[in-house]
Amino acid sequence: MISEQELAKLSLEGAPTIKVTPPGPKSQEILTYQSEHESSVVSYPKGMPMALKRGKGATLEDVDGNVYIDMFGGAGVMAVGHGHPDVLEAAHKQIDDVTHSLDIPTEIRQKMVELMGSLLPKELNRVFFGGPTGSDAVEQAIKLARYNTGRWGTIAFEGAYHGMTGTSLALTTDSSHRDGLGPLVPGVQFIPYPYKYRNPFGCPDEDVDLQAAENLERVLSDSHSGYSKPAAVILESVQGEGGTIIPTKRFMQRVREICDKHDVIMICDEIQSGLGRTGKMFAFEHFGIVPDIVTMSKALGGIGFPISAIAYKESLNTWPAGKTIGTFRGNMVAFAAGHAALKWMSENQIPERAIELGKKAMEPLKKLEAESSIVGEVRGIGLMMAIELVKDKKTKEPGTAFAKMVRKYGHQRGVMIEVGGHHSNVARLLPPLVITEDYLLKGIEILSGVIKDIEAGKLK
Ligand SMILES: Cc1ncc(COP(=O)(O)O)c(C=O)c1O
Repeated sequence: MISEQELAKLSLEGAPTIKVTPPGPKSQEILTYQSEHESSVVSYPKGMPMALKRGKGATLEDVDGNVYIDMFGGAGVMAVGHGHPDVLEAAHKQIDDVTHSLDIPTEIRQKMVELMGSLLPKELNRVFFGGPTGSDAVEQAIKLARYNTGRWGTIAFEGAYHGMTGTSLALTTDSSHRDGLGPLVPGVQFIPYPYKYRNPFGCPDEDVDLQAAENLERVLSDSHSGYSKPAAVILESVQGEGGTIIPTKRFMQRVREICDKHDVIMICDEIQSGLGRTGKMFAFEHFGIVPDIVTMSKALGGIGFPISAIAYKESLNTWPAGKTIGTFRGNMVAFAAGHAALKWMSENQIPERAIELGKKAMEPLKKLEAESSIVGEVRGIGLMMAIELVKDKKTKEPGTAFAKMVRKYGHQRGVMIEVGGHHSNVARLLPPLVITEDYLLKGIEILSGVIKDIEAGKLK
């Protein structure tokens, strides 16, 4: 396993360094330009106001010279960190060779497919690159399920985030993205995900997972449930934007059984949880199941080159040439970068390290949960971690404003995070997997300090 000293070389030294409270003057100038010329829909700079200059490993520097510990990781893209040297070298070389080919094969494309084949379960032996974003992969997965079953409905889960395009948006539950757009793609129905902390069933909390699975069985087998037999059941193997909700093995295994029993295609969306983040290449490996289709994106392009893919079983490989097409069907630079990144991660046992590091991170996080009156629950699997904020630990009233404050003041003190959750009340940690233990624990200490100051009424 790679040493901490080697990993430290990938990041900037001495983080965090805050020279001026962000946004500093140079950042402010760029932010003003952006708000005057780009769409009003731009959102991330509202939560973490700054303009970026460079990234290295698990650190980012803004144009005012502030250096941050990155525990946001480009919303889960940056598994090998910013500017990984092997990845940069591979990408630079590929830019000189060939950069675009639709789906005409190239050597780097083949190398990528071979490598993906070695990381995926053997059952998922077919790979398709259908467009550059995660949403594209979801669209293709659903299209493939529909084509193979001749059915068109999909069952998805409350709290799901699958993307922002037609069908993928219809599969996403957050009303802030759905409202005001009129009817979305029809045929999608939602059932509760096994969210133990906010038990939707009223059963003992320990049984939430079984209840959630049996609810799926019920809607599929009851002819009066109002659910027509769907083409697919789609779920995140760990629900990400919904608040880092980790299902149990028995839930995932039961869903697999139910899909088999009803001849419904099971799609695991691993766009966020996949490629090492949870400590396995794919989070579904924790649960001992293999879906029929898996979606991938984010970390697949190495250091943020846009690419997505689905992998699926041979039996589903029925669609004729040209059934689905697109201009960006695999990006050569993303192949080179992603290949270098995944190879480096496997050779250096980065997923295995993520499990160990995640366990170490849970120690101070659990302490925070025990000590703080506004931390309802901390959760984590590998380096996919979350702090759910509440106004009251008994009533569990969501602490939506607190989560925003953790992001704002965390940023001001040099730590970047994501906010998510059913009530936007979850501080989500998705650091690059190459983060050093030192930076990870320092980042958590800073966030804990912010939470304690919020609790003490010192921050508004
Ligand atoms: C689980 C999951 N699926 C799909 C998507 C959509 O990916 P993209 O934003 O690249 O379209 C995301 C993005 O966060 C995601 O987390």
